Amino acid sequence: FHRAMSMLPKVFVTRRVPPDGLDILRKSGQVQFEMWDSDDPMPRMELLKKVKGCDGILCVLTEKIDAQLLEAAGPNLKVVSTMSVGFDHLSLDELKKREIRVGYTPDVLTDCVAELTVALLLATSRRLIEATHEAKTGGWGTWRTLWLCGHELANSTVGILGLGRIGVAIAERLKPFKVKKFIYTDVTPRPELANMIEAEYDKLAEQSDFLAVCCALTPETHGICNFNLFSKMKKNAIFINTSRGGVVNQEDLYEALSTGLIAGAGLDVTTPEPLPTHHPLYTLKNCVILPHIASASYTTRNAMSALAANNLLAGLRGEPMPKELKL
Ligand code: DGY
Repeated sequence: FHRAMSMLPKVFVTRRVPPDGLDILRKSGQVQFEMWDSDDPMPRMELLKKVKGCDGILCVLTEKIDAQLLEAAGPNLKVVSTMSVGFDHLSLDELKKREIRVGYTPDVLTDCVAELTVALLLATSRRLIEATHEAKTGGWGTWRTLWLCGHELANSTVGILGLGRIGVAIAERLKPFKVKKFIYTDVTPRPELANMIEAEYDKLAEQSDFLAVCCALTPETHGICNFNLFSKMKKNAIFINTSRGGVVNQEDLYEALSTGLIAGAGLDVTTPEPLPTHHPLYTLKNCVILPHIASASYTTRNAMSALAANNLLAGLRGEPMPKELKL
């Protein structure tokens, strides 16, 4: 039995992941796996030791899968499966060079992320966090005509930066709020997705009352939300980011929010994460910051871990993965 066990492919799971994924790995009988059994990331040095000789790695978005790690893992490594739709923590060139296959978790989190994006948008535009704070701390003097006024979705133009599955799901949810028009930008027009939400391919900055960032972080999108964008936006505009912090130039965003270039920002992602508690963005009333929770529902996180496990197992069998990233 022990001999048989030791011949199974070796897998390292870099973090405690939700039970559905672990059950799949366990019940498969296909791998021997070890897990960093903690809610916190493992020290890098420890990670580099643990991946040595592995056939597969199941990771989350805090682990940098770069040349150093791949070297440490060695030539047995065939599959990296990340429990995330984002893949900016993976050095795709290095993986491709070594013919290592990559699994990720699109689709299963789309509804959950879109739902949170709408919640964050409303919390920001209707100033909910400020309002509860005022109510709790004695700021609620009387009903006042312009006190805590915000901006409404009815008759607005919503801009989507990077139209993919998530952008479409956000638009579908916003439509019943009587949005007048959806516009989007992307590297190229995406007519099939755009038709689903009747969105036009157009310049976002000048027209958007709400701008939702839904693109992947890549070298092309790094820092694209900068002063140049904010300075062209409407003064009433609300900026929402649930993709990756790296898409935004945070100094420029601070400037835009503190000088009234735009009305507010809701961020579920920042640079770095966690955003240090002394960061200037926290001092702004018109900035709502969440700790990267867009996919945080029990159902979705379990679905992500299950998909990550199934990707890993399929990859190790040499079969097509349920969701494989084309390199
Ligand atoms: C992802 O999947 O990339 C999110 O950021 C976490 O769900």
